[in-house]
Amino acid sequence: MRSLITLFAELYGGRPTIYRAPGRVNLIGEHTDYNDGFVMPAALDLYTYVAVRPRSDRRLRVYSENLHEMRDFELDSIRCGRTGHWSDYVRGVAGVLESSGYKLRGADLAITGEVPMGSGLSSSAALEVSTAWALLSNSQINVDRNTIPQICQQAEHLYPETQCGIMDQFISCHGRAGHALMLDCRSLDFQLLPVPSQVRLMVCNTMVKHEHASGGYNTRRRECEEGLQALKQSLPGIRALRDVTVNELEKHRDRLSPVIYKRVRHVVTENDRVQEAATALTAGDLAQFGRLMADSHRSLRDDYEVSTAELDLMVELASGQNGVYGARMTGGGFGGCTINLVHSARAEEVQQRLVQLYEAKTGLRPTIIICEASDGAGAVAET
Ligand code: GLA
Repeated sequence: MRSLITLFAELYGGRPTIYRAPGRVNLIGEHTDYNDGFVMPAALDLYTYVAVRPRSDRRLRVYSENLHEMRDFELDSIRCGRTGHWSDYVRGVAGVLESSGYKLRGADLAITGEVPMGSGLSSSAALEVSTAWALLSNSQINVDRNTIPQICQQAEHLYPETQCGIMDQFISCHGRAGHALMLDCRSLDFQLLPVPSQVRLMVCNTMVKHEHASGGYNTRRRECEEGLQALKQSLPGIRALRDVTVNELEKHRDRLSPVIYKRVRHVVTENDRVQEAATALTAGDLAQFGRLMADSHRSLRDDYEVSTAELDLMVELASGQNGVYGARMTGGGFGGCTINLVHSARAEEVQQRLVQLYEAKTGLRPTIIICEASDGAGAVAET
Protein backbone atom coordinates (compact mmCIF):
# COMPACT_ATOMS: atom_id res chain seq x y z
CA MET A 1 0.00 0.00 0.00
CA ARG A 2 3.03 2.20 0.26
CA SER A 3 2.83 3.14 -3.41
CA LEU A 4 -0.81 4.24 -3.14
CA ILE A 5 0.06 6.35 -0.09
CA THR A 6 2.96 7.91 -1.99
CA LEU A 7 0.79 8.54 -5.04
CA PHE A 8 -1.84 10.16 -2.86
CA ALA A 9 0.75 12.43 -1.24
CA GLU A 10 2.04 13.47 -4.66
CA LEU A 11 -1.44 14.20 -6.00
CA TYR A 12 -3.01 15.94 -3.06
CA GLY A 13 -0.52 16.14 -0.20
CA GLY A 14 -1.18 14.55 3.20
CA ARG A 15 -1.75 11.01 4.36
CA PRO A 16 -4.92 9.10 3.44
CA THR A 17 -6.89 6.28 5.00
CA ILE A 18 -7.28 3.21 2.81
CA TYR A 19 -10.27 0.95 2.21
CA ARG A 20 -10.55 -2.05 -0.05
CA ALA A 21 -13.13 -4.36 -1.60
CA PRO A 22 -12.57 -7.62 -3.49
CA GLY A 23 -13.60 -8.96 -6.87
CA ARG A 24 -15.31 -12.30 -6.95
CA VAL A 25 -15.61 -15.54 -8.77
CA ASN A 26 -18.93 -17.33 -8.94
CA LEU A 27 -18.66 -21.09 -8.43
CA ILE A 28 -22.20 -21.79 -9.62
CA GLY A 29 -25.55 -19.97 -10.00
CA GLU A 30 -25.27 -17.72 -13.05
CA HIS A 31 -27.95 -15.25 -14.13
CA THR A 32 -30.11 -16.38 -11.23
CA ASP A 33 -29.59 -13.39 -8.93
CA TYR A 34 -31.93 -11.01 -10.78
CA ASN A 35 -34.53 -13.78 -10.83
CA ASP A 36 -34.62 -13.93 -7.01
CA GLY A 37 -32.64 -17.18 -7.13
CA PHE A 38 -29.52 -18.74 -5.62
CA VAL A 39 -25.82 -18.04 -6.25
CA MET A 40 -22.54 -19.33 -4.80
CA PRO A 41 -19.70 -16.83 -5.21
CA ALA A 42 -16.42 -16.47 -3.32
CA ALA A 43 -14.46 -13.24 -2.81
CA LEU A 44 -11.03 -13.29 -4.45
CA ASP A 45 -7.69 -12.12 -3.15
CA LEU A 46 -7.80 -9.39 -5.80
CA TYR A 47 -8.89 -6.03 -4.40
CA THR A 48 -9.65 -2.47 -5.40
CA TYR A 49 -8.09 -0.01 -2.97
CA VAL A 50 -9.36 3.51 -2.33
CA ALA A 51 -7.21 6.06 -0.50
CA VAL A 52 -9.28 8.92 0.89
CA ARG A 53 -8.94 12.15 2.85
CA PRO A 54 -11.66 14.65 3.70
CA ARG A 55 -11.95 18.11 2.14
CA SER A 56 -13.63 21.07 3.72
CA ASP A 57 -15.91 21.71 0.71
CA ARG A 58 -18.38 19.46 -1.14
CA ARG A 59 -16.07 18.55 -3.97
CA LEU A 60 -14.93 15.03 -4.92
CA ARG A 61 -11.62 14.66 -6.71
CA VAL A 62 -10.83 11.15 -7.85
CA TYR A 63 -7.75 9.74 -9.54
CA SER A 64 -7.51 6.28 -11.11
CA GLU A 65 -4.01 4.86 -10.99
CA ASN A 66 -4.93 2.15 -13.53
CA LEU A 67 -6.26 4.63 -16.08
CA HIS A 68 -3.98 7.58 -15.16
CA GLU A 69 -6.88 9.97 -15.08
CA MET A 70 -8.34 12.54 -12.71
CA ARG A 71 -11.99 13.58 -12.53
CA ASP A 72 -13.76 15.92 -10.18
CA PHE A 73 -17.35 16.80 -9.44
CA GLU A 74 -19.52 18.64 -6.94
CA LEU A 75 -21.58 16.50 -4.55
CA ASP A 76 -24.43 19.00 -4.95
CA SER A 77 -24.79 18.64 -8.68
CA ILE A 78 -24.54 14.90 -9.36
CA ARG A 79 -27.07 13.77 -11.97
CA CYS A 80 -28.11 10.21 -12.82
CA GLY A 81 -27.16 8.71 -16.15
CA ARG A 82 -24.43 6.98 -18.05
CA THR A 83 -21.50 8.77 -19.64
CA GLY A 84 -19.55 5.57 -20.36
CA HIS A 85 -16.58 6.82 -18.33
CA TRP A 86 -15.06 4.77 -15.46
CA SER A 87 -15.93 7.57 -13.04
CA ASP A 88 -19.66 6.75 -13.54
CA TYR A 89 -19.17 4.12 -10.81
CA VAL A 90 -17.75 6.63 -8.32
CA ARG A 91 -20.26 9.35 -9.25
CA GLY A 92 -23.03 6.76 -9.03
CA VAL A 93 -22.12 5.59 -5.53
CA ALA A 94 -21.79 9.18 -4.29
CA GLY A 95 -25.07 10.13 -6.01
CA VAL A 96 -27.07 7.22 -4.57
CA LEU A 97 -25.59 7.69 -1.08
CA GLU A 98 -26.60 11.36 -1.17
CA SER A 99 -30.08 10.67 -2.51
CA SER A 100 -30.54 7.97 0.16
CA GLY A 101 -30.00 10.63 2.82
CA TYR A 102 -26.32 10.16 3.67
CA LYS A 103 -24.79 13.63 3.78
CA LEU A 104 -21.23 13.13 2.53
CA ARG A 105 -18.16 15.25 3.10
CA GLY A 106 -16.07 16.30 0.14
CA ALA A 107 -13.04 14.06 -0.45
CA ASP A 108 -9.84 13.50 -2.36
CA LEU A 109 -9.59 9.92 -3.60
CA ALA A 110 -6.93 7.82 -5.30
CA ILE A 111 -7.93 4.40 -6.57
CA THR A 112 -5.91 1.41 -7.66
CA GLY A 113 -7.36 -1.94 -8.67
CA GLU A 114 -6.05 -5.49 -8.98
CA VAL A 115 -9.25 -6.90 -10.47
CA PRO A 116 -8.87 -7.02 -14.26
CA MET A 117 -11.57 -4.91 -15.93
CA GLY A 118 -14.18 -6.51 -18.18
CA SER A 119 -13.07 -10.03 -17.26
CA GLY A 120 -16.15 -11.24 -15.37
CA LEU A 121 -14.49 -10.97 -11.94
CA SER A 122 -16.58 -8.00 -10.99
CA SER A 123 -14.17 -5.12 -11.02
CA SER A 124 -17.24 -2.85 -11.05
CA ALA A 125 -18.60 -4.10 -7.73
CA ALA A 126 -15.11 -3.92 -6.18
CA LEU A 127 -14.88 -0.28 -7.28
CA GLU A 128 -18.38 0.58 -6.08
CA VAL A 129 -18.09 -1.13 -2.70
CA SER A 130 -14.61 0.24 -1.93
CA THR A 131 -15.79 3.73 -2.92
CA ALA A 132 -18.91 3.48 -0.75
CA TRP A 133 -16.82 2.31 2.20
CA ALA A 134 -14.33 5.14 1.72
CA LEU A 135 -16.96 7.88 1.26
CA LEU A 136 -19.02 6.80 4.28
CA SER A 137 -16.02 6.34 6.58
CA ASN A 138 -14.62 9.66 5.39
CA SER A 139 -17.90 11.29 6.41
CA GLN A 140 -17.87 9.50 9.77
CA ILE A 141 -21.03 7.66 8.88
CA ASN A 142 -21.33 4.13 10.21
CA VAL A 143 -20.86 1.62 7.40
CA ASP A 144 -23.54 -1.05 7.41
CA ARG A 145 -22.37 -4.17 5.59
CA ASN A 146 -25.99 -5.08 4.86
CA THR A 147 -26.98 -1.78 3.26
CA ILE A 148 -23.99 -1.19 1.03
CA PRO A 149 -24.74 -3.93 -1.55
CA GLN A 150 -28.14 -2.44 -2.37
CA ILE A 151 -26.77 1.11 -2.58
CA CYS A 152 -24.05 -0.04 -4.96
CA GLN A 153 -26.45 -2.13 -7.05
CA GLN A 154 -28.71 0.90 -7.42
CA ALA A 155 -25.72 3.02 -8.41
CA GLU A 156 -24.90 0.52 -11.15
CA HIS A 157 -28.51 0.60 -12.42
CA LEU A 158 -28.76 4.38 -12.49
CA TYR A 159 -25.29 5.46 -13.65
CA PRO A 160 -23.37 2.91 -15.77
CA GLU A 161 -26.87 1.54 -16.50
CA THR A 162 -26.18 -2.18 -16.18
CA GLN A 163 -29.28 -3.83 -14.71
CA CYS A 164 -27.15 -6.14 -12.56
CA GLY A 165 -28.36 -8.39 -9.75
CA ILE A 166 -27.14 -8.23 -6.14
CA MET A 167 -24.53 -11.04 -6.20
CA ASP A 168 -21.33 -9.11 -6.92
CA GLN A 169 -21.86 -6.28 -4.46
CA PHE A 170 -23.07 -8.72 -1.81
CA ILE A 171 -20.05 -11.03 -1.94
CA SER A 172 -17.70 -8.05 -2.09
CA CYS A 173 -19.12 -6.99 1.29
CA HIS A 174 -19.68 -10.41 2.90
CA GLY A 175 -16.85 -12.62 1.56
CA ARG A 176 -14.96 -14.76 4.08
CA ALA A 177 -11.50 -16.28 3.71
CA GLY A 178 -11.65 -20.00 2.92
CA HIS A 179 -15.38 -19.92 2.20
CA ALA A 180 -17.88 -19.73 -0.63
CA LEU A 181 -21.15 -17.99 0.12
CA MET A 182 -24.51 -19.55 -0.73
CA LEU A 183 -26.91 -16.63 -1.11
CA ASP A 184 -30.67 -16.58 -1.45
CA CYS A 185 -31.08 -13.44 -3.55
CA ARG A 186 -34.70 -12.98 -2.47
CA SER A 187 -34.32 -13.02 1.31
CA LEU A 188 -30.59 -12.17 1.28
CA ASP A 189 -30.08 -14.98 3.81
CA PHE A 190 -26.70 -16.56 3.31
CA GLN A 191 -24.61 -19.45 4.47
CA LEU A 192 -20.81 -19.58 4.44
CA LEU A 193 -19.61 -22.94 3.08
CA PRO A 194 -15.99 -23.94 3.71
CA VAL A 195 -14.03 -24.63 0.53
CA PRO A 196 -12.24 -27.97 1.17
CA SER A 197 -8.59 -27.29 1.98
CA GLN A 198 -7.24 -29.30 -0.97
CA VAL A 199 -9.25 -27.25 -3.47
CA ARG A 200 -7.80 -24.28 -5.37
CA LEU A 201 -9.87 -21.78 -7.32
CA MET A 202 -8.29 -21.41 -10.73
CA VAL A 203 -9.48 -18.42 -12.72
CA CYS A 204 -8.72 -18.49 -16.45
CA ASN A 205 -9.04 -15.25 -18.36
CA THR A 206 -9.84 -15.90 -22.04
CA MET A 207 -8.62 -12.35 -22.76
CA VAL A 208 -11.89 -11.57 -24.53
CA LYS A 209 -13.44 -8.57 -22.77
CA HIS A 210 -17.13 -8.03 -22.22
CA GLU A 211 -19.19 -4.85 -21.83
CA HIS A 212 -22.46 -5.53 -20.03
CA ALA A 213 -24.23 -2.21 -20.37
CA SER A 214 -24.20 -2.23 -24.15
CA GLY A 215 -24.01 -6.01 -24.55
CA GLY A 216 -26.46 -8.87 -24.15
CA TYR A 217 -26.78 -8.68 -20.37
CA ASN A 218 -29.69 -6.24 -20.27
CA THR A 219 -31.35 -8.18 -23.11
CA ARG A 220 -31.21 -11.38 -21.02
CA ARG A 221 -32.86 -9.56 -18.15
CA ARG A 222 -35.67 -8.43 -20.43
CA GLU A 223 -36.11 -11.97 -21.77
CA CYS A 224 -36.50 -13.30 -18.22
CA GLU A 225 -39.10 -10.62 -17.51
CA GLU A 226 -40.97 -11.59 -20.66
CA GLY A 227 -40.91 -15.27 -19.59
CA LEU A 228 -42.15 -14.35 -16.14
CA GLN A 229 -45.07 -12.28 -17.44
CA ALA A 230 -46.12 -15.05 -19.84
CA LEU A 231 -45.93 -17.77 -17.16
CA LYS A 232 -47.86 -15.63 -14.69
CA GLN A 233 -50.93 -16.07 -16.86
CA SER A 234 -50.94 -19.77 -15.96
CA LEU A 235 -49.16 -19.50 -12.62
CA PRO A 236 -50.54 -16.34 -10.99
CA GLY A 237 -48.78 -17.04 -7.68
CA ILE A 238 -45.24 -16.61 -9.02
CA ARG A 239 -43.27 -13.43 -8.26
CA ALA A 240 -40.05 -14.32 -10.03
CA LEU A 241 -38.61 -17.19 -12.11
CA ARG A 242 -37.27 -18.53 -8.84
CA ASP A 243 -40.83 -19.66 -8.04
CA VAL A 244 -41.15 -21.84 -11.16
CA THR A 245 -40.33 -25.57 -11.03
CA VAL A 246 -39.08 -27.65 -13.95
CA ASN A 247 -42.41 -29.52 -14.07
CA GLU A 248 -44.42 -26.30 -14.16
CA LEU A 249 -42.23 -24.94 -16.92
CA GLU A 250 -42.75 -28.05 -19.03
CA LYS A 251 -46.49 -27.98 -18.41
CA HIS A 252 -46.82 -24.37 -19.57
CA ARG A 253 -44.07 -24.18 -22.16
CA ASP A 254 -46.50 -23.44 -25.00
CA ARG A 255 -46.96 -19.98 -23.49
CA LEU A 256 -43.33 -19.20 -24.37
CA SER A 257 -41.49 -18.70 -27.64
CA PRO A 258 -38.66 -21.23 -28.18
CA VAL A 259 -36.00 -18.65 -27.20
CA ILE A 260 -37.77 -17.48 -24.05
CA TYR A 261 -38.42 -21.10 -23.09
CA LYS A 262 -34.67 -21.81 -23.23
CA ARG A 263 -33.82 -18.71 -21.17
CA VAL A 264 -36.31 -19.71 -18.49
CA ARG A 265 -35.15 -23.32 -18.52
CA HIS A 266 -31.62 -22.18 -17.77
CA VAL A 267 -32.72 -20.13 -14.77
CA VAL A 268 -35.00 -22.81 -13.36
CA THR A 269 -32.50 -25.66 -13.70
CA GLU A 270 -29.59 -23.48 -12.51
CA ASN A 271 -31.41 -22.71 -9.26
CA ASP A 272 -31.79 -26.45 -8.65
CA ARG A 273 -28.10 -26.97 -9.43
CA VAL A 274 -26.94 -24.36 -6.91
CA GLN A 275 -28.90 -26.04 -4.15
CA GLU A 276 -27.53 -29.46 -5.11
CA ALA A 277 -24.04 -27.97 -5.28
CA ALA A 278 -24.36 -26.61 -1.74
CA THR A 279 -25.23 -30.10 -0.53
CA ALA A 280 -22.32 -31.60 -2.47
CA LEU A 281 -19.81 -29.05 -1.14
CA THR A 282 -20.98 -29.57 2.43
CA ALA A 283 -20.57 -33.33 2.00
CA GLY A 284 -17.14 -32.88 0.38
CA ASP A 285 -18.45 -34.54 -2.79
CA LEU A 286 -16.29 -32.70 -5.30
CA ALA A 287 -17.02 -35.11 -8.15
CA GLN A 288 -20.71 -34.23 -7.90
CA PHE A 289 -19.89 -30.53 -7.58
CA GLY A 290 -17.84 -30.82 -10.77
CA ARG A 291 -20.70 -32.50 -12.65
CA LEU A 292 -23.02 -29.69 -11.64
CA MET A 293 -20.48 -27.13 -12.89
CA ALA A 294 -20.34 -28.92 -16.24
CA ASP A 295 -24.16 -28.93 -16.48
CA SER A 296 -24.22 -25.25 -15.58
CA HIS A 297 -21.78 -24.44 -18.36
CA ARG A 298 -23.77 -26.40 -20.93
CA SER A 299 -26.95 -24.64 -19.89
CA LEU A 300 -25.30 -21.20 -20.15
CA ARG A 301 -23.90 -22.14 -23.56
CA ASP A 302 -26.97 -23.76 -25.11
CA ASP A 303 -30.02 -22.33 -23.31
CA TYR A 304 -28.93 -18.93 -22.06
CA GLU A 305 -26.45 -18.37 -24.92
CA VAL A 306 -24.02 -16.15 -23.03
CA SER A 307 -20.88 -18.23 -23.60
CA THR A 308 -18.33 -17.67 -26.36
CA ALA A 309 -16.14 -20.02 -28.41
CA GLU A 310 -13.16 -19.03 -26.22
CA LEU A 311 -14.98 -19.76 -22.94
CA ASP A 312 -16.17 -23.10 -24.32
CA LEU A 313 -12.65 -23.98 -25.39
CA MET A 314 -11.13 -23.06 -22.01
CA VAL A 315 -13.72 -25.20 -20.22
CA GLU A 316 -13.18 -28.10 -22.59
CA LEU A 317 -9.39 -27.95 -22.18
CA ALA A 318 -9.63 -27.79 -18.39
CA SER A 319 -12.16 -30.60 -18.15
CA GLY A 320 -9.69 -33.01 -19.70
CA GLN A 321 -6.94 -32.33 -17.13
CA ASN A 322 -6.03 -34.58 -14.23
CA GLY A 323 -6.83 -32.94 -10.91
CA VAL A 324 -9.64 -30.72 -12.23
CA TYR A 325 -12.91 -31.38 -10.37
CA GLY A 326 -15.02 -29.02 -12.44
CA ALA A 327 -14.91 -26.13 -14.91
CA ARG A 328 -17.39 -23.57 -16.22
CA MET A 329 -17.67 -19.99 -17.40
CA THR A 330 -18.14 -17.54 -14.54
CA GLY A 331 -19.90 -14.17 -14.33
CA GLY A 332 -22.18 -12.57 -16.89
CA GLY A 333 -20.49 -14.13 -19.93
CA PHE A 334 -19.94 -12.76 -23.46
CA GLY A 335 -16.21 -13.10 -22.76
CA GLY A 336 -14.24 -12.95 -19.52
CA CYS A 337 -13.18 -15.85 -17.33
CA THR A 338 -13.79 -19.47 -16.53
CA ILE A 339 -13.43 -21.05 -13.09
CA ASN A 340 -11.86 -24.44 -12.42
CA LEU A 341 -11.86 -26.21 -9.10
CA VAL A 342 -8.51 -27.97 -8.98
CA HIS A 343 -6.68 -30.22 -6.52
CA SER A 344 -3.88 -28.20 -4.90
CA ALA A 345 -1.23 -30.80 -5.78
CA ARG A 346 -2.02 -30.47 -9.49
CA ALA A 347 -2.80 -26.76 -9.68
CA GLU A 348 0.49 -25.43 -11.06
CA GLU A 349 0.83 -28.17 -13.62
CA VAL A 350 -2.74 -27.62 -14.83
CA GLN A 351 -2.12 -23.88 -14.98
CA GLN A 352 0.93 -24.24 -17.21
CA ARG A 353 -0.71 -26.79 -19.43
CA LEU A 354 -3.81 -24.65 -19.98
CA VAL A 355 -1.75 -21.58 -20.89
CA GLN A 356 0.06 -23.62 -23.55
CA LEU A 357 -3.00 -25.40 -24.93
CA TYR A 358 -5.18 -22.30 -25.08
CA GLU A 359 -2.48 -20.19 -26.68
CA ALA A 360 -1.74 -22.88 -29.26
CA LYS A 361 -5.41 -23.01 -30.29
CA THR A 362 -6.31 -19.32 -30.22
CA GLY A 363 -3.10 -17.31 -30.48
CA LEU A 364 -4.18 -15.53 -27.28
CA ARG A 365 -2.01 -15.88 -24.19
CA PRO A 366 -4.41 -16.30 -21.27
CA THR A 367 -3.82 -15.05 -17.74
CA ILE A 368 -4.50 -17.96 -15.39
CA ILE A 369 -4.37 -17.37 -11.66
CA ILE A 370 -4.66 -19.65 -8.66
CA CYS A 371 -6.73 -17.86 -6.03
CA GLU A 372 -7.88 -18.23 -2.46
CA ALA A 373 -11.39 -17.47 -1.23
CA SER A 374 -10.85 -14.21 0.67
CA ASP A 375 -12.36 -11.66 3.03
CA GLY A 376 -14.84 -8.98 2.00
CA ALA A 377 -14.50 -5.20 2.15
CA GLY A 378 -13.05 -3.15 4.97
CA ALA A 379 -10.40 -0.75 6.15
CA VAL A 380 -6.76 -1.58 5.42
CA ALA A 381 -4.62 -1.54 8.54
CA GLU A 382 -1.77 0.99 8.50
CA THR A 383 1.60 -0.58 7.86
C1 GLA B 1 -22.90 -10.00 -13.60
C2 GLA B 1 -23.90 -9.25 -12.70
C3 GLA B 1 -24.42 -10.17 -11.59
C4 GLA B 1 -24.93 -11.49 -12.13
C5 GLA B 1 -23.91 -12.12 -13.09
C6 GLA B 1 -24.46 -13.34 -13.78
O1 GLA B 1 -21.75 -10.30 -12.88
O2 GLA B 1 -23.30 -8.12 -12.13
O3 GLA B 1 -25.41 -9.50 -10.85
O4 GLA B 1 -26.17 -11.33 -12.74
O5 GLA B 1 -23.48 -11.20 -14.09
O6 GLA B 1 -24.66 -14.36 -12.87
